[in-house]
Amino acid sequence: MKKNVPHRLYLTEEQMPKQWYNLRADMKEQPAPIINPATGKPAAVEDLYPVFCEELAKQEMDGTTRYFDIPEEVLDIYKIYRPSPLCRAYNLEKALDTPAKIYYKFEGNNTSGSHKLNSAVAQAYYAKQQGLKGVTTETGAGQWGTALAEACSYFGLDLEVYMVKVSYNQKPFRKNIMETFGANVFASPSDRTEAGRKILAEDPENSGSLGCAISEAVERAVTSDGYRYVLGSVLNQVLLHQSIIGLEAKQAMELLDEYPDIVVGCAGGGSNLGGLIAPFMQDKLTGKRDPRIVAIEPASCPSFTRGVYKYDFCDTGKITPMAKMYTLGCTFKPSANHAGGLRYHGMSPILSKLYADGYMEASAVEQTKVFEAAVQFAKLETILPAPESAHAIKGAIDEALKCKESGEAKTILFGLTGTGYFDMTAYAAYNEGRMSDHIPTDEELKPSMDAIPSIPGIQD
Ligand SMILES: Cc1ncc(COP(=O)(O)O)c(C=O)c1O
Repeated sequence: MKKNVPHRLYLTEEQMPKQWYNLRADMKEQPAPIINPATGKPAAVEDLYPVFCEELAKQEMDGTTRYFDIPEEVLDIYKIYRPSPLCRAYNLEKALDTPAKIYYKFEGNNTSGSHKLNSAVAQAYYAKQQGLKGVTTETGAGQWGTALAEACSYFGLDLEVYMVKVSYNQKPFRKNIMETFGANVFASPSDRTEAGRKILAEDPENSGSLGCAISEAVERAVTSDGYRYVLGSVLNQVLLHQSIIGLEAKQAMELLDEYPDIVVGCAGGGSNLGGLIAPFMQDKLTGKRDPRIVAIEPASCPSFTRGVYKYDFCDTGKITPMAKMYTLGCTFKPSANHAGGLRYHGMSPILSKLYADGYMEASAVEQTKVFEAAVQFAKLETILPAPESAHAIKGAIDEALKCKESGEAKTILFGLTGTGYFDMTAYAAYNEGRMSDHIPTDEELKPSMDAIPSIPGIQD
């Protein structure tokens, strides 16, 4: 008999996982290796040391170690805000009149307001261990920058944040929080870097992109003594740290004798999705279970659904190593969509490989539909979701409505990655009927896709 399911299930501190899970260890084929653009050959771990902390570079390149111990100091901070609750969306189920059971893993219950803290704490810890003075980073919506500002303040590290200009202007309070924790925040493109100056010279009104902010942050890291660059998504190491989301979710569901038929997550660079699905994908890869895994991305920045699976730069300035991933081209400039954290041209190489191999599905949704789902959810479940997270809500609602039609009582799990209390410009635009949808045409996508580099002997 199924157990009574509470609205919110919290694991105890003792039950919190003590190890991260590395999905690559169970993949039949590894994601393609990253390429050093200087040599056109696969990068060695040492090639990454000028950019990343050494321990993180090792995690990045390690496709075989299945579990990594979470350092005690990291666990101690995790315990301040984790385990995060597994919630049952009873009110939403009722309103949709669906036989489906809808669960969500809520990661917004910490000051930073999102899942990003899970990797920020880990990355700041390794930077401190290496004796660095500080780190640099980019932030899109501001959640990652906020999370990292908290983590750096905890470990006593300097932090320079390049914040995508459109978000910087839309969300001044995000900047204020980062500064409260001691970070220095700059609107990107800025005139502090070669990369920023070049972009501004071509287009003084450029509203920025994650790709451009990454170029600036990397440039600052490699030209400043005692600094390294850290990234809040896309990378294998970030998915590793985020696996705590899925590990907790699976454990909590086991306590309820539940298992998801469908796992849904929003996809920006892929970190929350990669983390949420990790142990469920493990079951799929090892033939134990066969849940459907669904990525939801914005129609304005559709890397999975309309991108190509090719090697590309991770940044607009083309100074990072190249990764094989679904990409719209590193010079793609998404429209000023309100889900700042999903406006990235590429996708995690791990998720890209899984998608290419048919282990995952993806669909793209327009932002007005996403906000409709966000408002419906907020009214029923009393959490104001981040616009990014609301993509997953929309995906889960669509799946639940399909169940209503088919009469199937499927179990749906989605990732509610964060709260939207700093996204009121977006909610105001939606509430006042000023929000519109921009879906790029093929012609609009063509220039950046055509500019994807050819690499002799690897891709045309
Ligand atoms: C709340 C929230 N959810 C999701 C994302 C998307 O990032 P990722 O795909 O790495 O999880 C972001 C990125 O900024 C975010 O802030």
